[in-house]
Amino acid sequence: MIELVHLSKTFPSANGPIVALENIDLRIEDGSVFGIIGLSGAGKSTLVRCINLLERPTDGQVFIDGEELTKVKRSRLLKIRQNIGMIFQNFNLLEQRTVYDNVKFPLEIARVRREIKRKDGTVKAVYSRIGREEARARVEDLLELVGLSDRARSYPSQLSGGQKQRVAIARALATNPKYLLCDEATSALDPNTTSSILELLKEINKKLGVTIVVITHEMRVVDSICTDVAVIDQSRIVESGKVADVFAFPQSEIAKQLIIPELIRTVESAGGSKLRLVFNGEEADTPVVSGLAIEYGIAVNILYADTKNIDGKTYGHMVITLPEDEGLAAKVKQYLEKNNVTYKEEI
Ligand SMILES: Nc1ncnc2c1ncn2[C@@H]1O[C@H](COP(=O)(O)OP(=O)(O)OP(=O)(O)O)[C@@H](O)[C@H]1O
Ligand SMILES: [Mg+2]
Repeated sequence: MIELVHLSKTFPSANGPIVALENIDLRIEDGSVFGIIGLSGAGKSTLVRCINLLERPTDGQVFIDGEELTKVKRSRLLKIRQNIGMIFQNFNLLEQRTVYDNVKFPLEIARVRREIKRKDGTVKAVYSRIGREEARARVEDLLELVGLSDRARSYPSQLSGGQKQRVAIARALATNPKYLLCDEATSALDPNTTSSILELLKEINKKLGVTIVVITHEMRVVDSICTDVAVIDQSRIVESGKVADVFAFPQSEIAKQLIIPELIRTVESAGGSKLRLVFNGEEADTPVVSGLAIEYGIAVNILYADTKNIDGKTYGHMVITLPEDEGLAAKVKQYLEKNNVTYKEEI
């Protein structure tokens, strides 16, 4: 588990201190895909860099599996970092090295722990480099995982953005980390390539059990792969929770801005008041709008719909106009409740 406790970070500058993070408390459970979403300058990169101490917090503590990172010696820190892979927005590949050698690079530096049994039965731990054959097998497995086995001899300059990010992911996984930190891993990529990289991250989480922290300013990234989310605004976490909950009912203004599309919030209703329906896969699978028409003879106007079907269940938002007649409006709400559809009157 990754735990940040009362963490703050201030950068000195000629014009006075810049507060990048203020009193951050965050728990990232093992096995989760944890999204941290916020606008530019909110403090996201600083936050993720504090997790592996690339950036030293000014205040507060970082715990990795219960060990206080801010207290350990440098040699121990380097060891712990092998357990925390990281990928960056701009790939950060070594241009003079092939794909294969880029992925192998962390294995050249890493020392692995081996236990040697002494004659008296006690065990001695020694740290040594990973053997050549073991490294080769590892790199080949990783290239296969990211779908780049056939590009092992290429140089970064010969690859597309998506392929470069795949190399970066393979490299981040070389030392078999338990955690993977991704700072805007897809923001330089087009929508299709983004989807394929997100799929790959999801697979890494599921297959290898790697806990992933995803930094992003795009809600669709959170929507498509994250289990949990924290919203950061002006150096502070303003809300956090399970993605389904935060997405259904964002509390903070910033979360509403990020999560509920502009169109939903501004759409004009000509008749009665607006109602936002939230589908989170738990509703009865009757289409509500036609159900209302058939069962009650009430026709409602759909002002906006952004719903999708995953495995036969509906997710997303819809905005409808309620009938002006209060009795009918109450009936609509009754019908929604009966069908387990959550709704919200102020959007
Ligand atoms: N090394 C630094 N020195 C001084 N100020 C910094 C430094 N790094 C970040 N900051 C400041 O800290 C604040 C948060 O920056 P950060 O890079 O964490 O934001 P971000 O949320 O990652 O933004 P973006 O989405 O644009 O990447 C900004 O005001 C930034 O200017
Ligand atoms: Mg950033």
